[in-house]
Amino acid sequence: MVKGADKASGIARTDATGRVEMIPELLAWSSSLNHDRTFVREDLLGSAAHVTMLRKVGLLEPDDARKLRAALLAMYDDAAAGKLDLEGGEEDVHMAVEARLTRELGDVGKRLHTARSRNDQVSLDLRLHVRDQAARTLADVAALASELADRAARDEGVILPAYTHRQRAQPVSAAFLVSAWSMQLLRAADVLAQAVAHTNESPLGSGACSGTSLPIDRSVVARLLGFAGVTANALDTIGDRDFILDWTWAGARVLLALSRLSTDVIDFTTSEFAFLRIGDAVAAGSSMMPQKKNPDIFELVRAKASRGVGNVMAMLTLVRGLPTGYNRDLQDDRQAALDTGPLVRGATGAVRAAIAHLSFDPARCLAAVSDGSTQATDIAEALVRKGMPFREAYKATGQLVHLARERGVDLASVGLDAARSVHAAFDESVLAVVDPRVAVAAKKSTGGTAPERVEEQIAWIRAAATELGHKAASVPTLDALRRAVEAEAI
Ligand code: ARG
Repeated sequence: MVKGADKASGIARTDATGRVEMIPELLAWSSSLNHDRTFVREDLLGSAAHVTMLRKVGLLEPDDARKLRAALLAMYDDAAAGKLDLEGGEEDVHMAVEARLTRELGDVGKRLHTARSRNDQVSLDLRLHVRDQAARTLADVAALASELADRAARDEGVILPAYTHRQRAQPVSAAFLVSAWSMQLLRAADVLAQAVAHTNESPLGSGACSGTSLPIDRSVVARLLGFAGVTANALDTIGDRDFILDWTWAGARVLLALSRLSTDVIDFTTSEFAFLRIGDAVAAGSSMMPQKKNPDIFELVRAKASRGVGNVMAMLTLVRGLPTGYNRDLQDDRQAALDTGPLVRGATGAVRAAIAHLSFDPARCLAAVSDGSTQATDIAEALVRKGMPFREAYKATGQLVHLARERGVDLASVGLDAARSVHAAFDESVLAVVDPRVAVAAKKSTGGTAPERVEEQIAWIRAAATELGHKAASVPTLDALRRAVEAEAI
């Protein structure tokens, strides 16, 4: 039930617009105020910048502008301190703020909405919110990528199988595997950086759908709020939620990277693999089975990825088929827009905290590649280095694998005589590559698993993470915007 929905307590929506109120149940049901409270600081900053602009172009008297701005910034400070208690009974945060101002300041409050619509206002609020959240998320993901690079550098000496089709394929270093996780995360971080860039034009001044006949200067608001410029077409702007779609997509990309990493961790901590040990500080127990050390954190990360994908779907289906212009459907962007930041940052933080408590078991890892079968390709390539056509080398090595199996011995211990009985080209140097360390060291192609190549990858990850961190840091915080708005002379 909407608070203040009867005339006696004064429905504020009516106070603000002078219009007859909606049936209280319908107003309550259609209100976005509860979600909107999350970005009330963004709304207040937008209004403070708007008031500053109105003064600069002469649409507000200096005194009125100062009163309005001071009241808005005081509300911002209350909101930042968690002390702002906005009354309900309003369709959205914009009306709630305007009604509050009008109650506090009287008629001056009625000037706030000059040359503005809630259609461009809500777009501004959401852009500020998404930009801030996406930048914070970007900083977290870049930090995780760079921690993974440190981790990779420490695990250089550990050798384990890489998998294709979840079958043992070829030996790689653990550093190489951890770098692979990091690369995927960095691609997602790059999409996050794009999502930040896509928010970076000010929509304010688009009005309801076609601009305004009043002599506003949109560039003032854009400058004060740290936008790179203003949007180009008012009609497009007020119906545009592509920046939220991009934000949910970028968030989902991070979660997908984290969920695939999580599956590796979940598999590798099973006793079937036992490549990774999970520390007590991050393992969950079973209420019944005393022996259990479960990787719940990583399972939950996978589940969060499902929600991230759901948010992308919600945005895609929300905007598909809408007519050009503003439609109230767009208010339902809220759940996906506001969920994405906490969802992605929560999962990123969980992986950051938990991964430090995982350690590779070097002996178990090495044992999984010690029978030599994963080095069959290396043997074939050694024959190629001696001049044999690859397909012939592949066949000869295949025969050797077959012979070893028939004799019930590992490829690693089949021996030179047996190899020679298969093909005269086999010699000591060819069979030496059956040692997984030799096989790993030999993969010197760009992007390969040889230590010097992995060091290059680690260096690249560190550089990319640093650059993305700088991009995140270049986005002004809400508090910095508050100071910039207040510092502007009016
Ligand atoms: N409450 C709307 C939202 O949050 C903003 C105002 C929409 N405009 C309108 N004419 N009802 O998206």
